[in-house]
Amino acid sequence: MSLLRNTKLSVIGAGSVGSSLAYAALIRNSAREVVLYDLNAARAEAEVLDLAHGTPFTGASRITGGGDIEAVAGSDVIVVTAGAKQEPGQTRLDLAGVNARILEKLLPRLVELAPHAVIILVTNPCDVLTAVADQLVDLPAGQLFSSGTVLDSSRLRWLLAESAGVAPQNVHALIVGEHGDSEFALWSDATIGQTPLRDWTDESGTLLFPRERLESLTSDVVHAAYKIIAGKGATNYAIGLSGARIVEAVLRNERAILPVSSMLRGYRGIDGVALSVPSIVGSSGVERTLDVPMDDIEVELLHRSAEALRESIAHLG
Ligand code: LAC
Repeated sequence: MSLLRNTKLSVIGAGSVGSSLAYAALIRNSAREVVLYDLNAARAEAEVLDLAHGTPFTGASRITGGGDIEAVAGSDVIVVTAGAKQEPGQTRLDLAGVNARILEKLLPRLVELAPHAVIILVTNPCDVLTAVADQLVDLPAGQLFSSGTVLDSSRLRWLLAESAGVAPQNVHALIVGEHGDSEFALWSDATIGQTPLRDWTDESGTLLFPRERLESLTSDVVHAAYKIIAGKGATNYAIGLSGARIVEAVLRNERAILPVSSMLRGYRGIDGVALSVPSIVGSSGVERTLDVPMDDIEVELLHRSAEALRESIAHLG
């Protein structure tokens, strides 16, 4: 992967997600410079040192950071991972209050240090926090957004690829809506290669994805994080890779189509709430949301997701 000169990525939060995202960015050469910051200077310095020791085996990216937030100055992209994480059995929305308060303290300072940086929120509940951030700082539309359901879509693509026996890169399927319990799959235009998912068969000609199988796969995606958290306490690798992928779309001005979460304005009748829909992501962040085909059920599910998020925002007070 070609590396852009002088691109600077700052990752806020050196916990398992932030450190994994920094690690992924180093290995994928997402940015020329990666800064890892944490309020806990000792933790950040240790993570930076441990990551730096591996850079003779990675590309040309270099990593610095620690407990001085000034190091964020001049970033091209800032990814926010700081905050409380889901405990076993907790929903992402349960974290809204505590993480909104952390964002209120952090975000204005980040924008002051790097006013032109595209800001990507990973901290959960990322959709609610995107709406909170929209009230906290005044940035051009799309310059701040969240990772949304990029990770959930990756989980779905892996599940479908495993079932079909093909490379996940050739599975085109999206999870949209809340990055959380009300998310859903856009089955109507999912394909494997050029074949519509509903028509995919195994070698014997048996249809592989009848409706009940699709419902079961959606449930596997919705419950994936809970299962991993129950087993190891947190998710980190796939969200780290998802974050690095989004960073690259910005820093390389790819105009990639990704299901990230930004404030919607009049999207299928949805206003004033952030949730994931297919979006064009480039150097200025979310450059356009795409009005992709949705059947009546999918539109209804999108509105239900928006309602769940509105309720969570309303409870923030
Ligand atoms: C997950 C976290 C990042 O879905 O919300 O793994």
